[in-house]
Amino acid sequence: MSESSIFPAPLSFAARATVDSSRLRQMKDDALHHSEQFWLEQAGRIEWASFPTIASSSSFEGEVPINWFADGRLNASVACLDRHLAERGEQVALIWQGQDEGQVERLTYRALHERVCRMANVLRGLGVGRGDRVAIHLPMVVEGVVAMLACARMGAVHVVLFGGFSAEGLADRLVNSGAVVVLTADEGRRGGKRIPLKPTMDEALDRATGHAVRHVLVLAVTGIETSMQAGRDLALAPLLAAASPECAPAVMEAEAPLFVLYTSGSTGKPKGMVHTTGGYMVWAAYTHALVFDHRPGDVFWCTADISWITGHTYVVYGPLANGGTVVLFEGLPSHPAPGQWWQVIDTHKVTTFYTAPTAIRALMREGDDVVARHSLSSLRLLGSVGEPISADAWLWFHEAVGRGRCPVVDTWWQTETGGILIAPVPAAVPQKPGSATLPLPGVDCVLLDEKGRVVAGEGEGCLCIARSWPGQARTIWGDHARFRQTYFSFHEGYYFSGDGARRDADGYYWITGRIDDVINVSGHRIGTAEVEDVIATDHRFAECAAVGVPHDLKGQGLVVFVVPRGGPDGGLAQEAAQVISRGIGRYAAPERVYIVPDLPKTRSGKIVRRLLRKIACNELDALGDLSTLADATIVERLIMDVARQG
Ligand code: WTA
Repeated sequence: MSESSIFPAPLSFAARATVDSSRLRQMKDDALHHSEQFWLEQAGRIEWASFPTIASSSSFEGEVPINWFADGRLNASVACLDRHLAERGEQVALIWQGQDEGQVERLTYRALHERVCRMANVLRGLGVGRGDRVAIHLPMVVEGVVAMLACARMGAVHVVLFGGFSAEGLADRLVNSGAVVVLTADEGRRGGKRIPLKPTMDEALDRATGHAVRHVLVLAVTGIETSMQAGRDLALAPLLAAASPECAPAVMEAEAPLFVLYTSGSTGKPKGMVHTTGGYMVWAAYTHALVFDHRPGDVFWCTADISWITGHTYVVYGPLANGGTVVLFEGLPSHPAPGQWWQVIDTHKVTTFYTAPTAIRALMREGDDVVARHSLSSLRLLGSVGEPISADAWLWFHEAVGRGRCPVVDTWWQTETGGILIAPVPAAVPQKPGSATLPLPGVDCVLLDEKGRVVAGEGEGCLCIARSWPGQARTIWGDHARFRQTYFSFHEGYYFSGDGARRDADGYYWITGRIDDVINVSGHRIGTAEVEDVIATDHRFAECAAVGVPHDLKGQGLVVFVVPRGGPDGGLAQEAAQVISRGIGRYAAPERVYIVPDLPKTRSGKIVRRLLRKIACNELDALGDLSTLADATIVERLIMDVARQG
C-alpha cells in the first residue's frame, strides 16, 4: 500500500456530517487567533452550575500551572445525566450486553440517573466526602459506570482499577491514592473463565500496609460465595435497594479532581494521573462530538474496558455528556464463537464502533467469511486507538467491516491527554491508512529533535505539544515534581508525549511508537522499569532488563533477560515470569524470559537495551557499535544463550 492512498469521506457520509472542511478551517482559525473565546464557546457544550468567564491561564514553564475554566462550577454527573432528563429522559443511555445471549439491560437516562443517585447515597452513607478517593474494581457491568458517575455526583474522586492487576499491583495503587472505600465484585466473567476479584482485593488489602480503606462494597456478579470481613465488607445490593433514588449533586470547582487513573511510564511505579472536572468534561464532549461526528440517534460502542482512559472518556463521559446511547459489552470478541462482536453490532444497531488495532488484527485472522456473514448495515463510522495501526489492518477494517461506506478515524492520544489530540474530523479530513492525520483545532503539535530543536515541515521527531488544552492531566497524584520532570523537562515549554512521529508533506502525522522505555502490549502500557523492579525484589535474581519486541497480534511482546543470583538453574525462567505476573498482573506476562550470566552495559553501568532488543529479535547483522560496552565479550555469550534457550 503506498503512503499516498487517500480516502476522503464517502459522499453519503459527508452529506450528513456536522463539521465539513470549511467549518473545520474556521474552528482552527478561531482556536488559534481567538482562543479565549473559542474555548469558552466549547465550554458551552456541557452543562455548568455557573458558567466560566475565563478559559485558561496555563503555562508549561516553571511550576507548570494548568487550569481551565477556573471560575466555573459544575457537576460531571449532572452534565452527563440531569441535563438530558427533560429532553431525552426516556432515551436509552446505556445498553449493557452480557456475554451470554439474552443478557441485555437497557437503561434510559432517567433510569441511569436513579441508579447513580442510589449509589451516591450509599457512598455518602458510608461517610465518603468531597475529595475522598473511591477505588472501583469491577468488571464490565452497569455498576462500573454507575459507580464512576456516583463518585462524580458526590464530589468523590474515582480511581478505577483494572481487573487484571495482581494483588500487589492493586495494593500499590490503593496505598498511593489513599482510597477510603473500594467497590469490587465476587468475580468477573471472561469467556469461559472466572476472574476472582474479591479474593484478589482481600490479598491486596492484606499486603497494603498503611492503606486507608474503611469499607469494601461487594457486588454479586456470578453469585459465588466470597468471604466477608465483618465490619469492613458489605454486600452492595441491599444497600442500593435501601438507598434513596434522589441525591443532590455536589457543585464542584472546575479544577476539582474528577478522577485519578494510573498509567505506566519509563521509570518507577505507575503514576496516578489527575484529571479535573471542567476541562476534562469539555474535552470529552468536544472530541467525542468532533471525531465521531456525533448526532442524535447514534449508538456508540467503544470496546475499551472502563478501567482504561479510553473507557473513561469514550464509554462514559464523552458520549453521555453529548446525550448519546452507549453500548457496554461484557464479553470477548470471539466467545462463545468467532463473530461475537459483529453479532453485538447487528443486535444493537451500533452506528459508531471504536476499538484497538490488537483486536482488529485478531478479528482479521478469523477470516473474511466470519465478518461477511453479518449485515453491519447500521455502521457509519469506525475508530481505532491504542497503538499504531498498520495500513493492511486499516484497509481490512475499512473494507471488510465498514464495507467501504464508513470513514476510519485513527485517534492518537494518551491517559495524560484526557482525550483525542490527533485524528481526522471524518468528513473534513481525508484519511491515509496508518496515519492519525491532523491535530484537532486548538491542539498545537510540534516535533522536536533529540536536541530539542523544532523540526519544521516534513520530518521526524519526538511528538510534543506546545500549548495547554483543556483535557490534559494537571499533575501526578501526590507528586507534582515528578509530573514536571516526566512531561516538561525534555524541553522547557513543551509537553513531552514519549512518542515518536513523522510529519509528511501534507502535514499528516504518522506515529512511530514510544521512544522511551514504555512497551505497548495489546494496548496495555507497561514500563520496563516496573518489570525490572518486581524482579529486583526477588532475592533469587540479581539483575534484569526488559525490552519490547514486535509481535504479530499484540503489537509488542515483552522479553526479559534475567541474571540469577546463584548461577543458572532449570526452572528459573518460569519462576521469573511468575514473579512478573504476580507483581504486575497477567497482562504483563512475558513472551520469553532468558536466563543470562550478565547484561551488556556501558562503562558507566547503563544497560544497553537497544542491543538486547536486537538479540531478542535475532537481528544479529546490525548490532551497531559495541565499543562503548564495558565488556564486549558478553554479546557473544548472550547470542549463544538466547539461541540455546529458543
Ligand atoms: C499509543 C490510550 C499510535 C502511544 C488512549 C501512546 C497510539 C500510548 C495511538 C498511550 C494511535 C495511542 N497511533 N499509537 N492512534 N493511540 N497510542 O495512555 O504510544 O493507554 O503514547 O492511552 O498508546 O496509551 P494510553
